[in-house]
Amino acid sequence: MLTARPPGRSCGSLQRWLLSAALLLGLRLCVELRRAGYGPPARRGPPELPPPHLLPAPGPPHGASRRQVTYVRSRRRALPGGAGRVTPEPSCCAPRGRPGRKGPRWHIELQPWAGPAQSLDEEASRFLSYISTTQIACDHMGTDSLATDSIPAKKPWLVCLDDRFGLAHQIRNKQCRLYSLGLGSDDIRFEVSMANDGCEVHRFDPSVKSAHVLESEHLWHHRLSVDWRDPHPAVAAQKPHSNTRKLGSILNEFGHHKIDVLKADLESAEWKVLENLILEDVLEQIGQLIFEIHLHWPGFEVSGSDSSVVRFWYSLLKELERKDFRLFHSYKDLSKPQLFLKKDVFNASSCYTLSWVNTRWK
Ligand SMILES: *[C@@H]1O[C@H](CO)[C@@H](O)[C@H](O)[C@H]1NC(C)=O
Repeated sequence: MLTARPPGRSCGSLQRWLLSAALLLGLRLCVELRRAGYGPPARRGPPELPPPHLLPAPGPPHGASRRQVTYVRSRRRALPGGAGRVTPEPSCCAPRGRPGRKGPRWHIELQPWAGPAQSLDEEASRFLSYISTTQIACDHMGTDSLATDSIPAKKPWLVCLDDRFGLAHQIRNKQCRLYSLGLGSDDIRFEVSMANDGCEVHRFDPSVKSAHVLESEHLWHHRLSVDWRDPHPAVAAQKPHSNTRKLGSILNEFGHHKIDVLKADLESAEWKVLENLILEDVLEQIGQLIFEIHLHWPGFEVSGSDSSVVRFWYSLLKELERKDFRLFHSYKDLSKPQLFLKKDVFNASSCYTLSWVNTRWK
């Protein structure tokens, strides 16, 4: 199942193939965009910049197909109460994603409001209790995997090593693969110890010095930043080595079909990345998820009223549950500012680390 094919080998033909695929895709996209009357997708600023305050895209215009372009600056009037992109309401009659349907979805389904007032209080209370309540018991949780580390881990990156979930078995057979998505983080103890246990570890971080570095037998560093969209085809054609990619594209590029553990600390890009993994069904290829989530502001390209932002976050996590992921660990980081959407309210932290296990993982 797991072929440890170091990326970089056989790159020539792969790159040629990717290039032509990108060009084809670009052409197709241009035609579609023109037909739908949309401009080019908006670009995301670097993480240090304040969030681009994008208007939520409106619902599908009359007669238009549902193939909406997700990342669009629109001059049209925004729907009230939207966050992220908004499913038109009422959603009773909108065509829903049929189970088993193939091909990308364009919207996640928003959960009903937490209460009749559609207030921040109601939304926050539902959301915070949701992320603080584990959904499945894990008897053997590993910090830093199976290794005995004398220095206590700074962050509780925990995997579930219960036999029923298969990860322990994969580690014993040296058949596990960890993807770690980061933005300039230098704490890689979790990655190092997973690699020491024999896992194939791929760390993605735009601050890595060169394109692909093999640090030790099992530990790769890649100068790639995982995003929720691929570069615009026109940009990709000029800069085939652009270092921003969707996770699904990286998996294709590396020829990987499965990730046993996906760790992500994306400094507020996690919401859009998670949305992308849901919309493109990449979650099915992942065994366990460890995400650091950030609550001090809505996150990159998430906008709307405070209550609708929280409803959007909640809806994303409910999608995980729908995909048979169960929360087995929740860690509230008390060392970070205790801020929730810029306010010191609800006794919330701005930062939580959440671990889920895919209960269908084999
Ligand atoms: C606030 O959070 C801290 C840390 O989780 C907890 O110990 C404390 O009991 C909470 N306070 C209230 C009033 O809920």
